[in-house]
Amino acid sequence: MILLPIILILLTGQSHSTYVWPNYLYDELEHLLVDQEGFNSGAYFKRAITPCTHYVNGNQTLGRMTAAQWLRTAFHDFATADVAAGTGGMDASIGWETDRPENVGSAFNDSLSFFAPFVNQYVSMADMIALSVVTSVGVCSSPNIHIPFRGGRVDASEAGAFGVPEPETDIQTTLNQFAQAGFNQPDTIGLTACGHTLGNVHHAGFPQVVGPEAVTPDNTGGGIHFDSTVDVFDVLVVNEYLEGTGQRGGPLVTSDNVTVRSDFRLYTSDNNLTMKGLSNSQEYFVSECISLMARMLNTVPSSTTLSAVIDPVDVKPVNITLDFMEDEYGPHIVFAGYIRLLSTAFTENATVK
Ligand code: HEM
Ligand SMILES: *[C@@H]1O[C@H](CO)[C@@H](O)[C@H](O)[C@H]1NC(C)=O
Ligand SMILES: *[C@@H]1O[C@H](CO)[C@@H](O)[C@H](O)[C@H]1NC(C)=O
Ligand SMILES: *[C@@H]1O[C@H](CO)[C@@H](O)[C@H](O)[C@H]1NC(C)=O
Ligand SMILES: *[C@@H]1O[C@H](CO)[C@@H](O)[C@H](O)[C@H]1NC(C)=O
Ligand SMILES: *[C@@H]1O[C@H](CO)[C@@H](O)[C@H](O)[C@H]1NC(C)=O
Ligand SMILES: *[C@@H]1O[C@H](CO)[C@@H](O)[C@H](O)[C@H]1NC(C)=O
Repeated sequence: MILLPIILILLTGQSHSTYVWPNYLYDELEHLLVDQEGFNSGAYFKRAITPCTHYVNGNQTLGRMTAAQWLRTAFHDFATADVAAGTGGMDASIGWETDRPENVGSAFNDSLSFFAPFVNQYVSMADMIALSVVTSVGVCSSPNIHIPFRGGRVDASEAGAFGVPEPETDIQTTLNQFAQAGFNQPDTIGLTACGHTLGNVHHAGFPQVVGPEAVTPDNTGGGIHFDSTVDVFDVLVVNEYLEGTGQRGGPLVTSDNVTVRSDFRLYTSDNNLTMKGLSNSQEYFVSECISLMARMLNTVPSSTTLSAVIDPVDVKPVNITLDFMEDEYGPHIVFAGYIRLLSTAFTENATVK
């Protein structure tokens, strides 16, 4: 009779992981995730990708967009994971690998240099890369798509394995590489279509895919969109590919150079079955992408333990200090700071009082 409540307490204690302030990793990442505008948003990084077409590292006429660069950076960091060996994945090793031919383009140094000021003893570069995907997919969608976000990634101190698929890579090598990273054929097709709904293939960097005719005064890097809504995270890339409309799946499907049609080889590798499935609806496409992208972001070395999913904290102390003072009122304790209250659900423009 007396045992019962004790057992219940033990069970409850084990099945709920309640947020307890302070938790420095959680507090920092939650701050970057939630305080994007308004109160306490001084360092928010969403401005770099607002609007979604914005390029934060240079001239808007270059034909580049930061939100898409962030997503591609995460893919290149993830792609060399070896889940059986427990190595690679989201560990920011991409920072040591930017001079490799498989990592052509300005996306990686652009992104990492923008993230660098946010990295501190609690927030790793690898967590910033993951958070940037959550943020870019959120900003480039309406209603906002929210990929669940965990923290705790650990940065590599040296370069990792080679093997990011390139436009020239044959289909079997590509599928083998993704399989090593834990993604089977439908997963690979899905994840690639989810990535290639944003952004461009550029003549600068990929002249073998996109010809010089893409270069114009407003698009000096010669970026060609994957789909007709370059800045919307939507199923259109799939539909345009299947229907042969708009961008028809983009340059990696349509390039005159057959050798570099990597998306065409991938999408047709199961006779378009996965692409036809994804075309079912925007809602289905988004739900598949959320799941695949969360798996990509959570592919980490076996030595890394990720935190619980970071959800907005409804009532959160901000910059709380407890000071001992001695002045004309005599010795006393001063408790100062703010309490942040989320007044609306996070996905509906959370505001603070
Ligand atoms: C077989 C696999 C893949 C190949 C061969 C491939 C190749 C490429 C190439 C050549 C570009 C053009 C980059 C540039 O010109 O700046 C590109 C862009 C891009 N890729 Fe992939 N990709 C693959 C899979 C993925 C995956 C799985 C994702 C993310 C989940 C992804 C996300 C992106 C994004 C967002 C862009 C646009 C970048 C920008 O506009 O700056 N890709 N990809
Ligand atoms: C909390 O402290 C940080 C670091 O000093 C500062 O940047 C931020 O503006 C403070 N927030 C508020 C609401 O005062
Ligand atoms: C951006 O580049 C265009 C030409 O491509 C140039 O006319 C313009 O002055 C540049 N803007 C800035 C802010 O550098
Ligand atoms: C990226 O930056 C690093 C460090 O500054 C540098 O060593 C590397 O060459 C750069 N990579 C590219 C492609 O510019
Ligand atoms: C087609 O792409 C391959 C692989 O990048 C390259 O070697 C070849 O020169 C390209 N052909 C043309 C006509 O650009
Ligand atoms: C897959 O769809 C593309 C685009 O409609 C088409 O060109 C191709 O022939 C199809 N391939 C297969 C094997 O179904
Ligand atoms: C969220 O904010 C945007 C931009 O200010 C606005 O267009 C939209 O209607 C808001 N959504 C809600 C649910 O208030």
